[in-house]
Amino acid sequence: MQAPKIAVIGSINMDLVTTSERFPQPGETLLGSGFTQFTGGKGANQAVAAARLGASVSLIGAVGDDGFGRTLLESLQREGVDTNAVHIAAGHPSGMANITVAQGDNHIIVVSGANFALSAESVRQEKARIAEADVVMAQLETPLEAVIEAAKLARKHGKPFILNPAPAQALPAQLLELVDVLTPNAYELAISLSLPENLSPEELVVQAPCQVVMTLGAEGALFSDAEGRQHRQSSFRVTPVDTTGAGDTFNGALARYWSRGLSEAVRLACAAAALSVTRAGAQSGMPDEAALQAFLQTSES
Ligand code: RIB
Repeated sequence: MQAPKIAVIGSINMDLVTTSERFPQPGETLLGSGFTQFTGGKGANQAVAAARLGASVSLIGAVGDDGFGRTLLESLQREGVDTNAVHIAAGHPSGMANITVAQGDNHIIVVSGANFALSAESVRQEKARIAEADVVMAQLETPLEAVIEAAKLARKHGKPFILNPAPAQALPAQLLELVDVLTPNAYELAISLSLPENLSPEELVVQAPCQVVMTLGAEGALFSDAEGRQHRQSSFRVTPVDTTGAGDTFNGALARYWSRGLSEAVRLACAAAALSVTRAGAQSGMPDEAALQAFLQTSES
């Protein structure tokens, strides 16, 4: 079977990751236990997740004309991601994320740099990639105008548009109308739709103007079908090392397995995301197809 074609519009960051026994209090200095540099960024992570699982992936994004940018591009190319639509934004530093991993959780501060030089026009220039894709996906670490342009092009060419609304921000109706599937966690959905954060996942999902696949961390996922009925997929049990990039792995796998129907795509995305947290770094634990199949044979959700 031919590999599905996926166009990802999104961010590319260098992740500077410090591990620590616990998170510092404001104003406190702590001695950390380790430091590692990983390739990351939600767009790049989703592209790599889908490519490792066998999709043919094209990434539309931007890096700076600097050392991080070159390392990020080389790494994407080694993963088989087509980087011909990654623009070099002269005068902008490459995006970076300052990440602290402690107590099984993470804190992330992203400095967008070149990612915010991705304009609607730069997306328009790559319209052929969107026109020939089977699935188009984006997140919110690039300017909203670039995301909206991608959504418009996807709709124009009749391609499913998956939006992972992270980091969370209130979404304009103009964008929501163009989204086929929104993939937030509960907090992100509340912010995306300007709803109270104390609503239950089910109460939030029912208010969305499109289909939703909500990630619930260790609880798996909740998703609505085309008729608006809600379904749950439980998670796969693993011992987590670093949860950074679990949501991105989920999204990449969801796009990769889109053609198998939503329920199966969500099941495979939950399994891929579970595997991804068993290693440090956003991309290190992302499985290839063989690893995913082996995992599915030995685990229960
Ligand atoms: O979702 C994880 C990603 O968020 C990290 O790789 C970091 O770069 C930030 O974009």
